[in-house]
Amino acid sequence: MWVWMARGAAEMPSAQSPPHLLQSTFLRRYRLDLWALVAVGALGLCYLFYHAIPPQKMPPSPRPAPRLPPFHVPPTVVPCVANVSVHNISGFAKLPGHVQDFMRYRHCRSFPELLGVPGKCGGPEGSPNVFLLLAIKSSPGNYERREVIRKTWGKERAFEGAFIRRVFLVGVSPNARDIKKLNRLLRVEQREHRDVLQWDFKDTFFNLTLKQVLFHTWLEEHCPGTHFVFNGDDDVFVNTDNMVHFAKASQGAQEKHLMVGQLFINNFPVRIQRSKYFVPRQLMAAEWYPPYCGGGGMLMSGFTARVITRQSQDIALFPIDDVYLGMCLEKAGLSPASHAGIRTMGVGALGRADPFDPCYYRELLLVHRFVPYEMVVMWDAIHEPHLRCGKRISIF
Ligand SMILES: *[C@@H]1O[C@H](CO)[C@@H](O)[C@H](O)[C@H]1NC(C)=O
Ligand SMILES: *[C@@H]1O[C@H](CO)[C@@H](O)[C@H](O)[C@H]1NC(C)=O
Ligand SMILES: *[C@@H]1O[C@H](CO)[C@@H](O)[C@H](O)[C@H]1NC(C)=O
Repeated sequence: MWVWMARGAAEMPSAQSPPHLLQSTFLRRYRLDLWALVAVGALGLCYLFYHAIPPQKMPPSPRPAPRLPPFHVPPTVVPCVANVSVHNISGFAKLPGHVQDFMRYRHCRSFPELLGVPGKCGGPEGSPNVFLLLAIKSSPGNYERREVIRKTWGKERAFEGAFIRRVFLVGVSPNARDIKKLNRLLRVEQREHRDVLQWDFKDTFFNLTLKQVLFHTWLEEHCPGTHFVFNGDDDVFVNTDNMVHFAKASQGAQEKHLMVGQLFINNFPVRIQRSKYFVPRQLMAAEWYPPYCGGGGMLMSGFTARVITRQSQDIALFPIDDVYLGMCLEKAGLSPASHAGIRTMGVGALGRADPFDPCYYRELLLVHRFVPYEMVVMWDAIHEPHLRCGKRISIF
């Protein structure tokens, strides 16, 4: 199994009034002042959110979001307490530490939001104007990757009339000594770009499903009307132009089920303890995974994203995030699909073709494993106006 693959000046009571009256008048006025302050504060917040919306103005809503059963935002966060009963699961003591950790905190799904962008989609009402939301899973330390994505394929723009918006999904560094400085880095990035969603949980591989589920809850609250969601890692190269073309060609797909990516069928849990993907029988007894799209990068319709939000409420977290999405689809009776233009296996999957021929990338939707500078070069190359495909060209 592989995961190659994202906030009147009221006059004072007069001194002639009797003391008890003075006191009650004062209290009333004080309360009025408080309300006035709250109102001013709220107006200020509205102003801030309004200005948080990126430059191009979006047109009025074309159509209301399709109806789905109501989703209840989970109750306010309570500190999550470890489940000590997992210690008497047979063989628990012999499991790797991160697996034990996962099992202890598996039931925890609400974590405080440290950084948020509530106005990202123009609020829930404005969100049907967002055509493609890029939800990129990143880790606090992956600064260079985020910077390059912001300048290249993840640019917030209107492409052929389709509004593209971007959020990075991050937790908190698992290394205690880096927490303060990386949280500060993320605050700096947020000030400049307003594209970071950060929750107060340990950003580890086995917590990626938690990140996914928290994103769906955020999406439901702040961006329910988005037509499509790209969901993937920060080391993929996405031809967002092609992705918009493909999504547009799937007429009306935003209101129907759509999930495309690199399809895995008949994949199974890895039982080798030293593997990154090790899943012990105590976590999953079944020998097969449901069909799923590789987590490196996939495209789903807004409809499917909302189905997942609802299904996930009744499915215990599973450490492998893409498999978990497959479980959610299966429970809803839906299937993921493959797309030939999504090469999460990386450039090697191109066979004998020149891995850096920009013509290939003109045709693809996504390719896994690019280092930051390669994204800059490839993004520039595929937008070369005189790029002539059909003959062999290599850019490096
Ligand atoms: C399991 O663990 C809990 C909490 O530690 C304990 O109260 C309970 O007796 C244990 N159950 C079994 C079957 O060992
Ligand atoms: C704690 O773990 C036990 C054993 O796996 C499980 O039966 C129980 O449902 C868990 N409790 C919570 C709150 O998840
Ligand atoms: C997931 O995050 C929670 C909250 O920070 C933490 O308690 C837990 O240990 C993490 N789980 C893993 C598997 O890292």
